[in-house]
Amino acid sequence: MKIGSRAIFLSSAGFCIATLALHAAELPHIKMENGTGQLVVNGQPFLILGGELGNSSAGTAAEADRVVPKLAALHVNTILIPVAWDEIEPEEGSFDFSVLDHWAETARGRNLHLVLLWFGSWKNAFSNYAPSWVKSDPKRFPRAQSADGRPLEILSTLSSENRRCDSLAFAALMRHIREQQSDRETVLMMQVENEVGYLGQGRDRSPEANRMFRGPVPEPLIRTLASKRLQFPPELATHFNEQGHTWSEVFGDAADEVFMAWNYASYMEAVTHAGKSEYALPMYANAQLPAPQERAGEYPSGGPHPYYLEVWRAAAPSIDFYSPDIYWPNFDYWVQRYEIPGNPIFIPEARMESAPYNALYAYGQARSFGFSPFAVDGLTLPEKADAAKPEMMQVYELLDSVRDILPPAQAAGWTRGLVLHTTSPRPTQTVALGGYLFEATLSRSWPARTILADDGAMLILQTSLGEFYILGSGLTVSFARDPDVGAGTAGIASVEQVSRASGRWTTERRLNGDQTNQGRQLMLDPHRQQMYRVRLYSITPETQP
Ligand code: DGJ
Repeated sequence: MKIGSRAIFLSSAGFCIATLALHAAELPHIKMENGTGQLVVNGQPFLILGGELGNSSAGTAAEADRVVPKLAALHVNTILIPVAWDEIEPEEGSFDFSVLDHWAETARGRNLHLVLLWFGSWKNAFSNYAPSWVKSDPKRFPRAQSADGRPLEILSTLSSENRRCDSLAFAALMRHIREQQSDRETVLMMQVENEVGYLGQGRDRSPEANRMFRGPVPEPLIRTLASKRLQFPPELATHFNEQGHTWSEVFGDAADEVFMAWNYASYMEAVTHAGKSEYALPMYANAQLPAPQERAGEYPSGGPHPYYLEVWRAAAPSIDFYSPDIYWPNFDYWVQRYEIPGNPIFIPEARMESAPYNALYAYGQARSFGFSPFAVDGLTLPEKADAAKPEMMQVYELLDSVRDILPPAQAAGWTRGLVLHTTSPRPTQTVALGGYLFEATLSRSWPARTILADDGAMLILQTSLGEFYILGSGLTVSFARDPDVGAGTAGIASVEQVSRASGRWTTERRLNGDQTNQGRQLMLDPHRQQMYRVRLYSITPETQP
C-alpha cells in the first residue's frame, strides 16, 4: 500500500517536472481566451500588477537597489522600466547593458518581473532618447519637418537609415535579454517606442513626405482596409473612400493623420520584427490619447489611437496589441475604445490619483491582464505597521491575494467592475452578473445621507452560483434579480469581510444589522479597500409558496 502510493507520488512528481520543463521552454506569450487577452507565463495566465517608473528613476544601477524593494512591498509584481537607446548604445555598434542587467538581477531577486519600454527613435513624439551620434548627424539621420520647413527633433519615419539603426539596436537588446534570461520570465514583454506620433501641423512636411503624400496610397493598405470595412470605428468609416488614389482622395480630412499612422506603423513593424527575430516576447505599442477638441498634431498625429488602429494593424503584423495611456478622467471610455476583437487589454500608464479605482474597473470590467500607474516609485511606504497604506498598495494587496483565481474568472466572463465619482454623470451604476443586478452608489452617512467618499469602485468576481467576492471601497451596493435571467426577487444570504493568503480564505468579520442596512445592502468601507464575500439568494416563481 505504502509502496503503491509512493509510486503514484513519484510518477506525478515526474509528470510535474516534465510539465514545468515543457513550460520553461515556452516564452511568455499572449493567448486570447473567449475574447479575453491573457499573458501566459510558464504555462499559467499571469496577472500584471504593474507600476511604471518615472522617466528619471531608472538611469542608474543604484536606483534599482532603492526602488525594487519598495515596489515589492507595494505588491507591484511587474515594473515597467525605460531602456534608452542613448544609454545602451552610446557609440555606434558598442553596447552597454550594465544598468539594465542590474535592474533585472535585482527584480529577479525579489521575484518581480519587468516590462521594458524601448525609448528608441521616439519618446512622446520627440527623439531625445536617440544617441548623440544619431541626433548630431541630421544628414545621415533625417528629421521630420514643420510646415515652414524647419527640421524638428523628431526623426523622420521615412529614412531607411533611421529605421536600420533603431532596428539594429533593438535587436541587440533582444539578443542580450535572450542570452541573459535563462529563467525566461524576468522580462515578460516589450513596449516598442513610446507614445509615437508627429507634433506639428498634422503631418511631416519634409520634401520626401510631401512627395509621398501626393503619391498613391499603397495598394495593400486599401485592400486590407476594404476587407475590414464592417469592423471600422466611426472615425475611419466616415473617411474611407476605396475608389480614391492619393492620400487625400482616400482618407479626406483624415489624410494627414492616416499618412502618419501608416509611416509610424511601417517603421515600428521593422523595429519590432528585428527584435522578435532575436527573441520573440510579446510586443505592444502605447498611445498618447487626444484631449477633447485637440487636432491631430496637437496630440501626436498618427499614433496608435483607436481611430486608425486598423491602419496600424495592416502595417504592423508583428505588434501583438495596442494600449492606451490614460490620464483623462473618462477612463472607461478610453478602455472601451481599445476593446476591439483580438486586442488584449493592458493599461501601461494611468494617472496615479485615480489609479486605485480605475484598476478595479480595468481588471473587473475590461478583463485586463495588466494595469500600471505612472511614476509608481513616487509612492511612500507607511513608516509604521499600523499606518494607513497608500490606496494603490491596498488594491494591489487584495488583487495579489486572488491573482490565481482572477484570470480564469475573467476568461469565463465571471467578473465585472465599476467606478463612481462625485463628478460622474449619474449617481448610480448597475452591472449584471450571475443572474443578479448590482446597483452601486457612493457611500453616504446615516442618518444625514451626506456623501462619505468622493470616489468609489468595485471589482466583482463570481466563484459559484450566488457567491461573489467584491473588492473595493466607497460604495453601497443593492442587489436585485436580473430580469433578463428570470423573474423573481433577490436577497442577501450573508456578507463577510474576508482575506486570502496562500489560497486560504479567512473571515475577518461577519457583517450584519447596521453594517448591511438591516440585511439590504453591502456597505463597502468608504475609505479602505477591502474584500467581501457576498452570498445571494433568489426567490423565483417556481420557488414561491
Ligand atoms: C506619458 C509618457 O509616456 C511618460 O513617459 C511620461 O512622460 C508621462 N506621459 C507623464 O509625465
